[in-house]
Amino acid sequence: MRSMLFVPADDEKKLGKGASIGADALILDLEDAVSLSRKAAARPLAAQYITEMRPRAGRPLIYVRINALDTNLWEEDVAAVVGSGPDGVMLPKARSGADVHTLSIALNMAEERAGLQAGSTRIVAIITETPVSMLQLNTYVGSSSRLEGLTWGAEDLAAAVGARTNREADNRTWTSPYRLARDLCLFTAAAANAQPLDTVYVNFRDDEGLRNECREAVRDGFTGKMAIHPNQVAVINEVFTPTAEEIAFSEEIIGVFADNPDAGVVAIRGNMIDRAHAARAERILARAKAAKRS
Ligand code: COA
Ligand code: MG
Repeated sequence: MRSMLFVPADDEKKLGKGASIGADALILDLEDAVSLSRKAAARPLAAQYITEMRPRAGRPLIYVRINALDTNLWEEDVAAVVGSGPDGVMLPKARSGADVHTLSIALNMAEERAGLQAGSTRIVAIITETPVSMLQLNTYVGSSSRLEGLTWGAEDLAAAVGARTNREADNRTWTSPYRLARDLCLFTAAAANAQPLDTVYVNFRDDEGLRNECREAVRDGFTGKMAIHPNQVAVINEVFTPTAEEIAFSEEIIGVFADNPDAGVVAIRGNMIDRAHAARAERILARAKAAKRS
């Protein structure tokens, strides 16, 4: 997934636009973008939207962001939407891998009730919104076979620690605590064999700032980024799609190792290329293939 666009689940107008924006995935939000008084109205709208979208060819993947597991809302969220068969659930404010596991058990039951295939609902967890989670990120590794992606958030973490801001004076660069959160999310995702997904860029009129942040994310290994506004989707898709040069070089690396199956290391135009480069090349080709499908 390159782009995942948040759509407030109680907003029928935005839901109506969602599928045509070109995002690889939509995240129907039942959490922070929906006020407490609108939660009950939002749930059936999300469920109905999923039911309508599911059979459509070429549709984006659909995730639902439920409320956090320390609320009395999340179980009703799961009960209301999972039966309609979303591709996945996004878990906010996760505290540890135990939360992912608890959600996974609840999904088992909801899937069984609805006659859905066990395990078909995937999980993407936001793992840096609570300070306690930051202290036990290793617990996400192996927490559930449903775990598909891990992402990070800076706004709730900043609120939890009492930060005045999470950006430097240029309004773009993350301050040190949030760079740590971002970087650890990347390592945790790699360790958990999940997609590392970069957090939202809230200034949705600043295309250049978004593009820079996307480039830094791709450079470091993130495979996609969440969006809050339709205008952000094209930039994210573009930057997270492997370039023709990257694809050609990756094919060359795979080809050289295929021709030399016993080689551990080879040289290409004066550069040492080993099996780690081959693994990276395979990942780039897989991402290029996925981008072509969507
Ligand atoms: N999904 C689908 N459509 C959206 C959208 C979204 N996330 N955000 C905006 N749009 C639509 C608007 O309805 C508007 O449609 P129109 O041209 O038919 O009137 C169009 O895109 C342009 O929107 P714009 O006027 O520039 O923005 P806005 O002031 O209406 O909305 C936000 C700004 C931030 C409130 C809105 O983008 C939004 O709700 N984003 C998602 C917020 C969210 O879910 N946050 C939780 C995760 S952090
Ligand atoms: Mg939040």
